[in-house]
Amino acid sequence: MARGLQVRGALGLLGFFCWSGASFVLRSENERPIIGILAQETDFKSFQKFGSSYIAASYVKFIESAGARVVPIRLNRSYEEYDKIFHGINGILFPGGGVDLKTSEFSKVAKIFYKKALEANDRGDYFPIWGTCLGHQLLAYLTSGEDLLTWTNTDGFTMPLNFTQGAKHSKMFQDFPEDIYKLIASEPVTSHFHFWSLSVQNYTENEKLRNFYKILTTNFHNVEFISTMEAYRYPIYGVQWHPEKNPFEWKNSTGIPHSSESIKVTFFIAEFFVNEARKSSHHFSSKKDETDALIYNFNPVFTGIFSSFDQVYFFD
Ligand SMILES: *[C@@H]1O[C@H](CO)[C@@H](O)[C@H](O)[C@H]1NC(C)=O
Ligand SMILES: *[C@@H]1O[C@H](CO)[C@@H](O)[C@H](O)[C@H]1NC(C)=O
Ligand SMILES: *[C@@H]1O[C@H](CO)[C@@H](O)[C@H](O)[C@H]1NC(C)=O
Ligand SMILES: *[C@@H]1O[C@H](CO)[C@@H](O)[C@H](O)[C@H]1NC(C)=O
Repeated sequence: MARGLQVRGALGLLGFFCWSGASFVLRSENERPIIGILAQETDFKSFQKFGSSYIAASYVKFIESAGARVVPIRLNRSYEEYDKIFHGINGILFPGGGVDLKTSEFSKVAKIFYKKALEANDRGDYFPIWGTCLGHQLLAYLTSGEDLLTWTNTDGFTMPLNFTQGAKHSKMFQDFPEDIYKLIASEPVTSHFHFWSLSVQNYTENEKLRNFYKILTTNFHNVEFISTMEAYRYPIYGVQWHPEKNPFEWKNSTGIPHSSESIKVTFFIAEFFVNEARKSSHHFSSKKDETDALIYNFNPVFTGIFSSFDQVYFFD
């Protein structure tokens, strides 16, 4: 945040001194970021009568809470439609869930956006990706081309995170408030709902993963697994835990913390990712295209009585 202010301060000064004849282009912050959230097949029977794909509303609220709007990325669309959306959004979030990493539509569409994001970033067009839980595992799969997960049975736990040495100076945590950073390291403020994990061992033995991602936090449950990572050369971030659950999911579970501190953790994570999206200048080609794409065209269904999500958006 401090850095953001410095950049704005510098922009203001340059704008004042160089208002004419500036021979360089400064990219100013995008104050109206839009983030795509990838839908997933409705593999739960109780969901199928509502639609063939869904997005849990907690991911939408997570993004909205830090000042961005959401566009749902639906499945089974044409390549042209995905391309159009890619050029309209400023980042993408791959949520958690339960579908197959290799064969699902979720994975196929994620791969399209992942490839586009790498290409865009390589040519200086900033485009961040966030993966949560299954989305985090999907990032590891997209990068390595292999499913390297191992069974950890980590379903319904709150835990602190073990930070690695480099984490303090990582992109994700360098601007974190000191007290929140310490809190994450010492109190059970993160929510874990995953049976499978990427172990530190398999990461270390895989050259593609090792060269691409830096481990920021690990946890120990049967094996030591990666709970937070970020790419070295790309704005790509993965968390095995669920920051969106703390404030927005109310299933009576030992796995979801609701303390005021745990809510702050969620906010600073959301703020980090939305700030990343503010560095992207993508925009839809018209106001109508933007309006038609936004999630406001859909209404969430109250599903808390029969599912672990309180509200869910359904499609198709
Ligand atoms: C996607 O298309 C396939 C083939 O037409 C169909 O079987 C599947 O149900 C569709 N899935 C979704 C989520 O729309
Ligand atoms: C490593 O990945 C393989 C799958 O390729 C998996 O069977 C194995 O359990 C993993 N081992 C560890 C220690 O994570
Ligand atoms: C942190 O790491 C230590 C050492 O490996 C381990 O004993 C402990 O269980 C870890 N803590 C968590 C919350 O995973
Ligand atoms: C949550 O579940 C526990 C154990 O089943 C129960 O004792 C408690 O009363 C429940 N709390 C709420 C708020 O429903």
